[in-house]
Amino acid sequence: MANKEIKISYTEYDSIEQMEAGDRQLAEAAILATKTSYAPYSEFNVGAAVRLEDGEIITGSNQENAAYPSGQCAERTAMFYASASHPDKAMTSIAVAAAHKGKLCESPATPCGACRQVMAQYQTKGGRNISIILTGERKIWKFEKVDDILPFIFDSI
Ligand code: THU
Repeated sequence: MANKEIKISYTEYDSIEQMEAGDRQLAEAAILATKTSYAPYSEFNVGAAVRLEDGEIITGSNQENAAYPSGQCAERTAMFYASASHPDKAMTSIAVAAAHKGKLCESPATPCGACRQVMAQYQTKGGRNISIILTGERKIWKFEKVDDILPFIFDSI
C-alpha cells in the first residue's frame, strides 16, 4: 500500500497586463466573447477563445435553450467549432472568461468537468499540450496542460 499525492502547478497573475502578449490577446478575446453569450436563464455569460497552432483565434460562448440540456458551454462551443472548421490544426491554448449580469467575475472562470474532458481529447488529438487561461477581474490562472485541471484523464480511445 502507498499513499500518493498529485502536485499541480500554475501561474497566477494579478492582472491581464502581467501576461505575455499572446496570452493577453487570447484572454481579451475570451472577455469579448462573453458579449456573444446567449444565457437568458442563468444570466451567466461565458466566453472562450481557442488558439490554433497557426495562431488563429476561434471564439465561442455559452448558448442556452429552454430545453436546458440542449444548451452548450462556451468552451465546447469554441472547441467544437475550431475542430469542425480546422480539423487538421492542433489547438495550443484556450482562454475562458465569465460575466454575471454584464460584470466580469472577480474570480477565474473554471471549466466544468465535461469541458475539461473535451479539452483533454483535443489535446490528445492535436498531439501537443493545450494551455488553459482562466480569467477573472482580480486574478488570472494559467495552467500549462489539460492534465493540470483534469488528473486521471479518461483516454481509452
Ligand atoms: N458554463 C459554461 O459556458 N462553461 C462552463 O465551464 C461552466 C458553465 C455555462 C453553462 C450555462 O449556460 C451557464 O454557464 C450556467 O451554468
